Amino acid sequence: MTQPQAAPDNPEKLASFEAEIASGGRIEAGQWMPEQYRFECLRLIQMHANSELMGALPEREWIPRAPTLARKMALVAKVQDEVGHAQLLYRVAEDLGKPRSRMIEDLLAGRSKFHNVFHYPADTWADVAVIQVFVDGAAMQTQGALRSCSYAPYARVLKRICYEEDFHIRLGIDVHKSLADGTPRQRAMLQDAIDRWWQPIMHFFGPRDQVSPHLETMMRWRIKVKTNDELRQQFLRQFVPLITDYGLRVPDPKLKWNETEQRYEYGEPDWEEFKRVIRGEGPKTAARLQLRNDYWRRHQWVREAMDSWRVAA
Ligand SMILES: [Fe+2]
Ligand SMILES: [Fe+2]
Repeated sequence: MTQPQAAPDNPEKLASFEAEIASGGRIEAGQWMPEQYRFECLRLIQMHANSELMGALPEREWIPRAPTLARKMALVAKVQDEVGHAQLLYRVAEDLGKPRSRMIEDLLAGRSKFHNVFHYPADTWADVAVIQVFVDGAAMQTQGALRSCSYAPYARVLKRICYEEDFHIRLGIDVHKSLADGTPRQRAMLQDAIDRWWQPIMHFFGPRDQVSPHLETMMRWRIKVKTNDELRQQFLRQFVPLITDYGLRVPDPKLKWNETEQRYEYGEPDWEEFKRVIRGEGPKTAARLQLRNDYWRRHQWVREAMDSWRVAA
């Protein structure tokens, strides 16, 4: 998404917009907002919507192979939830001025982004556990914080999404526990999945924020509520024990709790890989986009039927 050349904002309107946000107020879709605010909200929510839609795919692959009927039913419900989140978010995003059809076209053509973690394969059943616990757990940090963002429709929809995400994490903890308490082969499979997913999950929060006028504006406007590293630390505090308490290993020899600073120290992940992946060069990017495109074409008749029904109505 390239930023539009916006006309300068009306200074009086900008001042009252900023005063409203500073006093804890929220902005509704029909209210006046600076073009930069509209652009940043749209970018954020569109990326979130894309990620929910693409994020359903790695787990979807495991629906036919889930080990029991109960696990299969729970997984179907979880995957459905994620697609539902995408629907809700595209609705919120389109009110910011970009039609849903264009957002989908941009996603399918690889012109818009989705979160790095959904560009990776889900090789084993243990990957499903890791995605549900740690990937949803990472997403929950960001989304939980954004419930207090200043754009009211996004904050509202996040309440429902977080409620369901919390359930996904609980579901994942149940799968994680049964593998961690399982046979040596199951434990090895879980450790292998943790080893492969750890770096993408650390990447998920993005590099440490550089102090900049842009970041300062995003924080002042409450489109960004916590810094990348605050969210990463929050995640580590909550989720590292879920690995170590089960006698499993975090695949980062530098990870350690710093009692004085009350934070985790960790080895810096490979940020070049992160850049490659979000540019669309991840191990599964092409295959997942191909699948989305195939389904989009296959379901063309449904859209046509809906359109003709609308015309008739
Ligand atoms: Fe979701
Ligand atoms: Fe989820």
